[in-house]
Amino acid sequence: MPPAEPRIEPHVAPGVEPPLALLAELTHRCPLRCPYCSNPLKLERASDELTEAEWRRVLGEAAALGVLQVHFSGGEPMARRDLVALIGEAAGRGLYSNLITSGALGGERELQAFAEAGLKHVQLSFQDVAAADNDRIAGLSGAHARKSAFAQAVRAVGLPLTLNIVVHRQNLGGVDQMIEMALALGARRLEIAHVQYYAWALTNRAAFLPTRAQLDTATRTVEAARERLKGVLAIDYVVPDYHGVRPKSCMNGWGRRFLNISPAGKVLPCHAAETLPGLSFPSVRDASLADIWYRSEAFNRFRGTDWMAEPCRNCERRTIDWGGCRCQAFLLTGDAARADPVCALSPDHGVVETALREAEQPVEAFIYRQYG
Ligand code: SF4
Ligand code: FES
Repeated sequence: MPPAEPRIEPHVAPGVEPPLALLAELTHRCPLRCPYCSNPLKLERASDELTEAEWRRVLGEAAALGVLQVHFSGGEPMARRDLVALIGEAAGRGLYSNLITSGALGGERELQAFAEAGLKHVQLSFQDVAAADNDRIAGLSGAHARKSAFAQAVRAVGLPLTLNIVVHRQNLGGVDQMIEMALALGARRLEIAHVQYYAWALTNRAAFLPTRAQLDTATRTVEAARERLKGVLAIDYVVPDYHGVRPKSCMNGWGRRFLNISPAGKVLPCHAAETLPGLSFPSVRDASLADIWYRSEAFNRFRGTDWMAEPCRNCERRTIDWGGCRCQAFLLTGDAARADPVCALSPDHGVVETALREAEQPVEAFIYRQYG
């Protein structure tokens, strides 16, 4: 008999809106070993993963809570044999579903089943344009060929395709070719997103952080292509925040719009939240999503602005960027409640300037993500 769905109670936290999007990390298993992977350094085991029945219950709770979109991710979500059933469950609950995949497992047969189950969109990652470079960064020989075939299969079954390419100093010079590849593969959207420095990427930062000159050249290329390709290809462009003077509004603010569920069921305000000491993240195995979203200490710890110290406390941007990223603040200063050091107003901004000086040094080798 399936487990009874927990009762969803009306919320008690005044002013807290329901979440809009859920990142469902179905598994940390993945055939790729990207050295900038956003998964934690300590990956969760397959034997701890939520079961199909647990995910179905969670999807029901998410829809009841107000979530509109579910992003099936990982690791590689296609490593889960029950993915088609979970897509069907999401569709049945009225959730818009997006598949975030490496394209290294499966093809047209699986995609046809996903489309019939109600999948609405596919986001496919490439590591680079040339096969040898792509496969070196992915840590998997033949990955580029599999991804190219997968992209064709996405188009063959009629699903909209977004290409995602993570950029850094080792591939940033190829932005023009990335745009050409997206057009050739029939993508409607291209995300050119710089590495974000958490987890594996922070370990490998010296090999990835670009120089200012590299970044400026790439930005000019993207801006010209956006103009030229209006109505043909939408290009999202995420620059490295280390080169900015104000931080990004990470997750649109802690506990405001977004929740992340790990393979074993931990509910997180962001993908890197487990790096923060002193916070424990409840599991969907122990509490309802509504309880966790509205009442848990972890989700309320950095909500709003009451937790802020100077210079954020009285800054005019405090409800625009919410003090930047809590995880980056902790990783760079040891204190998650400080201003994100990317901010030039932060007393810790020097650590970012030091990292930028390191970016001038030639480093190519990196440590690959390892499962198990
Ligand atoms: Fe954002 Fe704080 Fe910097 Fe102001 S001082 S811009 S709120 S990080
Ligand atoms: Fe955790 Fe930004 S990644 S708050």
